[in-house]
Amino acid sequence: MAEDRKEYNEFWERKWNHNKTHWDFGKMQIALKDLIEENKYPLPKGNCLVPGCGRGYDAIFFAQQGYKTIGLDVSVSAKKAAESLAKKSNVPPGNLEFVTADFYTYEPPASLFQVAYDYTFLSTIRPTDRHLWGQRYAELVASGGFLITLIFPVDFGSKDSVPPFQLNIEMCHEVLDNNFTLVYEDRDPPKDPERSSTCIMAVWKRN
Ligand SMILES: C[S@@+](CC[C@H](N)C(=O)[O-])C[C@H]1O[C@@H](n2cnc3c(N)ncnc32)[C@H](O)[C@@H]1O
Repeated sequence: MAEDRKEYNEFWERKWNHNKTHWDFGKMQIALKDLIEENKYPLPKGNCLVPGCGRGYDAIFFAQQGYKTIGLDVSVSAKKAAESLAKKSNVPPGNLEFVTADFYTYEPPASLFQVAYDYTFLSTIRPTDRHLWGQRYAELVASGGFLITLIFPVDFGSKDSVPPFQLNIEMCHEVLDNNFTLVYEDRDPPKDPERSSTCIMAVWKRN
């Protein structure tokens, strides 16, 4: 299993090295901006984790919103790209760190996260590992804290071969409900015209 995961992690590094980052939208999604800035659901301030952060658009946003944010990605090249973007962004000093680590083995800080955000990371998780994804968030998010999932893609993607894997909210319930309660759901959150296919915004509270 560890060997298999190592290979999958190398697959992501190769994507970054060869500029095959076709998922990269060039900016954050307005659905997240809307959720936070319009206070659609009251979230605590504190520390925030963005796993599979890629170039770091969302991590930068959370840091700008005052969260002590960690952008986590298994790819060294992703970290370099994210750090370079952060330098050009207006981020309060000390609020943002990019870390190269595997989501499954990452050693979290002593105080667990108040907020975690998952956008397109779940779509990279092989369906057989999805329960581990849910379990891992339960280990990383503090009791009373929140996991925000912007679930995408919903209306395309593969079922079991190569990412992105097609998602739906029922599969999130299957792997999160043991430890989280769904507290907010928007099946039609604001979308950029360039990425208009279906996504679902969901906020889960850690029990
Ligand atoms: C589809 S990309 C999404 C990036 C970013 N969320 C975005 O929307 O632009 C998935 C990212 O997850 C990272 N990744 C894949 N497996 C990972 C793992 N086990 N731990 C941490 N990061 C991982 C990849 O390197 C890649 O940058």
